Amino acid sequence: MITVGGQTIGHISLSKRSNNWHETQVVIGEKKYWSKGYGQEAFQILIKKAKKIDISKIYLEVRPTNTRAIRAYVKCGFRAIKIIKYPKNKYLSETLRMEIDLNKLGEYIVFDAIRDNGGKGIKARDLLKAIKAKKK
Ligand SMILES: CC(C)(COP(=O)(O)OP(=O)(O)OC[C@H]1O[C@@H](n2cnc3c(N)ncnc32)[C@H](O)[C@@H]1OP(=O)(O)O)[C@@H](O)C(=O)NCCC(=O)NCCS
Repeated sequence: MITVGGQTIGHISLSKRSNNWHETQVVIGEKKYWSKGYGQEAFQILIKKAKKIDISKIYLEVRPTNTRAIRAYVKCGFRAIKIIKYPKNKYLSETLRMEIDLNKLGEYIVFDAIRDNGGKGIKARDLLKAIKAKKK
């Protein structure tokens, strides 16, 4: 449960799926609690708990137009992987799959730093800067 001042405003879950992957789902019920950072806070707690019990691969599916949710997930370290089509589902015909691998966060920083440098490689000094910036 996600609670604020003792009141339940939503929930977040983690369910075991195949090949060591776990799926997370999150919802905050009332609009007045959206965009206040509670979603990201809930993810950070979930991620800490997952690490403690050796869960590293977490994914979610989100409506590709749900920019608020996507921003929250990206800020928590999730990466957009692919669009999944559900042609038979008339309410949700496609989702964006996003993933985080908690064992690869260091690699992510290196990849991102290289990408941001136009794919040209990176000096150790700049890499350290990128790592420091990420820790803030
Ligand atoms: C998705 C959800 C869990 C996110 O939790 P949240 O507490 O609202 O999100 P946060 O406040 O932590 O982060 C949202 C970010 O998106 C930004 N944002 C808000 N509206 C936005 C928009 N329309 N487009 C892009 N970004 C937006 C916020 O400013 C915030 O970014 P910031 O931290 O840089 O300021 C919550 O909004 C929710 O439950 N919504 C309804 C149901 C839903 O969409 N569930 C997700 C199904 S996958």
